[in-house]
Amino acid sequence: MRTILFWGRIMYVCVCQAVTERQVREAVKDGVTSMRGLREHLGVAAECGRCARCAHGILKECQGCGQENDSLACAA
Ligand code: FES
Repeated sequence: MRTILFWGRIMYVCVCQAVTERQVREAVKDGVTSMRGLREHLGVAAECGRCARCAHGILKECQGCGQENDSLACAA
């Protein structure tokens, strides 16, 4: 189960670092392939870690979308 906080139309995955779902999807689109990469690029799961499961789910969802990384499908 994902824990995503909604603030208006912005969906926050990582509250500690104020990282949105869109930022995670764009990082995957830009070539990030692992949680380590998400942590290095966005700071996801670098503090309390509560977002790790959610971020991992989004990462896997984008990787399994059947689109190349340069597709906009993972950034929508
Ligand atoms: S919510 Fe992401 S590190 Fe705390």
